[in-house]
Amino acid sequence: MWAELLPVGRSSASGGYRRYAWTGADADCRAWFRQQAEARGLAYEVDRNGNQWAWLGDPAAGNAVVTGSHLDSVPDGGAFDGPLGVVSAFAALDELRGRGARLTRPLGIVNFGDEEGARFGLACVGSRLTAGALTVEQAHRLTDGDGVTLPQAMEAAGYDPEGIGPDPERLARIGAFVELHVEQGRALDLSGDRVGIASAIWPHGRWRFDFRGEANHAGTTRLADRRDPMPSYAETVLAARREAELAGAVATFGKIAVEPNGVNAIPSLVRGWLDSRAADQASLDTVVTAIEKAAREYAAAHGVDLTVERESFTPVVEFDHALRDELALILSSDTELRVPVLGTGAGHDAGILSGRVPTAMLFVRNPTGVSHSPAEHATEDDCVAGVSALADVLEGLART
Ligand code: GLV
Ligand code: MN
Ligand code: MN
Repeated sequence: MWAELLPVGRSSASGGYRRYAWTGADADCRAWFRQQAEARGLAYEVDRNGNQWAWLGDPAAGNAVVTGSHLDSVPDGGAFDGPLGVVSAFAALDELRGRGARLTRPLGIVNFGDEEGARFGLACVGSRLTAGALTVEQAHRLTDGDGVTLPQAMEAAGYDPEGIGPDPERLARIGAFVELHVEQGRALDLSGDRVGIASAIWPHGRWRFDFRGEANHAGTTRLADRRDPMPSYAETVLAARREAELAGAVATFGKIAVEPNGVNAIPSLVRGWLDSRAADQASLDTVVTAIEKAAREYAAAHGVDLTVERESFTPVVEFDHALRDELALILSSDTELRVPVLGTGAGHDAGILSGRVPTAMLFVRNPTGVSHSPAEHATEDDCVAGVSALADVLEGLART
């Protein structure tokens, strides 16, 4: 499975993945998913929001156990964030069949669309739409960097955007959702464990800062006459770092757009996107409020106009305690395996679904902790341990 997926959407220049929603690389990933489902004799379907499903047993029977993740990537992402959960899902099913496991509940494998939000700026669009956490009107307003709207992109990829929206009937069939994911940090590496169980996801969001000044000649405009938005943006980046440190949070300006983007032109606009996350809501509020306040002061000092817009927000997610304990109990039968419980600052479809469905996550050790980068890695032995743990969990849940 890895060998087939590895070349899809990979940039030869960076070695990273560019699998953005509703592009050719995304279509290739989706074709791969369908082929994996059909090769295993699973019932394949695409839901109204473009998420792909593969079923063993009849989902209409209800109380299904579902696993899976996503296949899209951030710009120049790694091979594991997302695909590890989907590959492991199919591999765990193979393992269960090899064991001759008897499952009394339907088993589903899902590939959620557009988890990273790399193209339209909002993460987890497929699961948000399904869970009703994104309205159809909001989804219609999502636009990529080239001005293509989400419905236009879906249509161009051969999907009907008319049907998008909440899918409560589909969610009502799911009794438990378990997403396996590469760890995006070093907790397991430091504790010396292959596999962990998620406790919670930090509250997180994305804010767009538009610093508007006046375009002018870089050679002839006196410094005193400039309304240059770049210095106030730069000072805001430093403020973000400082405020995050003070609050024990994280804050990142990882994307920037400059107009007119000419070497010899003072910019008219600097647009920077802030991603900020913290262990609790109060700390996140403190950080973002402080960054915005600093940005307004810097902008005023440079005669620059500033608007700040929150583009997305996900509150803290505390995964279902009963399901988490059940996973720990199932995995405790393997005396070789110690399975710590850990929190994460990364967002996941599991976090979106957790408000609607009992949800849990398994993490697989990442020896460097690096993620959202071509250097993201997990060893084959640890991936195998992840598949085995996922198979145990699915079997344990689907028997009860
Ligand atoms: C998704 O991986 C995110 O945490 O932004
Ligand atoms: Mn990611
Ligand atoms: Mn992911």
